[in-house]
Amino acid sequence: MNKVFEVPQKLRFGALELTPAVTLAPMAGVTDTVFRRFIRNLGGCGLIMTEFTSSEGVIADDRRKKAGQKTVRRNSFNYLYYEQDEHPIVAQLFGSDPATLADAARVVEDLGFDGVDLNFGCPVKKVTTCNGGSGLLRDLPLIRQILEQVRAAVSIPFTCKFRTGWSDTEIVCCEVGRLAESCGLQGVALHGRTREQGYAGNANWDMIAELKRAVSIPVVGNGDVFSPEDAVRMFQHTGCDGVMIGRAAASNPWIFRQIQQYIATGEYDEPTEQDRYEMIRDYYQLLLNRGDRISGRVDGKMKQFATYFTRGVRNGTQLRKAIYRCGEPQEVIDTVERFFEEQLATEAA
Ligand SMILES: Cc1cc2nc3c(=O)[nH]c(=O)nc-3n(C[C@H](O)[C@H](O)[C@H](O)COP(=O)(O)O)c2cc1C
Repeated sequence: MNKVFEVPQKLRFGALELTPAVTLAPMAGVTDTVFRRFIRNLGGCGLIMTEFTSSEGVIADDRRKKAGQKTVRRNSFNYLYYEQDEHPIVAQLFGSDPATLADAARVVEDLGFDGVDLNFGCPVKKVTTCNGGSGLLRDLPLIRQILEQVRAAVSIPFTCKFRTGWSDTEIVCCEVGRLAESCGLQGVALHGRTREQGYAGNANWDMIAELKRAVSIPVVGNGDVFSPEDAVRMFQHTGCDGVMIGRAAASNPWIFRQIQQYIATGEYDEPTEQDRYEMIRDYYQLLLNRGDRISGRVDGKMKQFATYFTRGVRNGTQLRKAIYRCGEPQEVIDTVERFFEEQLATEAA
């Protein structure tokens, strides 16, 4: 079938072929196994990634497991828990010690992940002060050591994700991309902001275009894609091989499906009130079933997602407030049922 927009349909990281070329960004506290499966079930997303996971934590957990010791709740292995229907799935690691990252990448490979990704983009102080995340963007020789050692440790596809640089006067994304290519990585993802920028201003898509011109491995563009139109614009503006979506996926998990529909037809469906009801109900049900596999409490997670999911719902503030007042997870589910029963009844009347 002819597409309305000629944009990449496949993204290839070495032997890993991903369709479509639109991926879910890793988001700590959001993209746990429950949310990832939820996104998978809705369709249109080519790749999902774990939340970033401490390489030191992974090694400590691996040692504990090999010694036959009980693992503790909120451990790093919990972040790396996934179910078989999540494939293809990549694990994201952070850290700054090459040997530890290489060991952790080996564990990731042994756990059956389809790829491993390193985070050179996290702006959080706790991470950057030990040189992890975007802190590494100020130490390219260390990035090289890390990339070489991790590359030598695993044979699964290996990628990294970074920001454009530490600050406007320290832009290094093309250098990091070239390092990644020369060390044998299969792809890179760029969030078009500096560390200093945090989330302020706009993501600089020109930088993504520049990186794309600087390397021949696949480049995934990231930052400020909030609609299907944005996704197509990102492909067209930057020439990137894939588009990665973060924040928008939390409040509009249909965005991946909408993008595919938009590429094919030039139009896309907006979710109905019934769709929104089913989305919240299904996500909460998944949470109830697999709450043992997330970090944090199920009721807390339900409240966190109420903030995202009630956007766009008619009288959404009312629902959000009602959910915040709930105690037990089952009470949240009953509240959602009651709210939509009334809401859909008034819509039908
Ligand atoms: C709550 C939250 C958690 C995040 N956690 C991670 C993370 O674990 N690893 C990572 O590489 N980026 C993380 N990011 C950054 C996103 O992956 C993404 O690069 C950024 O949000 C820009 O994309 P967007 O405009 O589509 O949201 C996080 C972002 C948010 C909002």
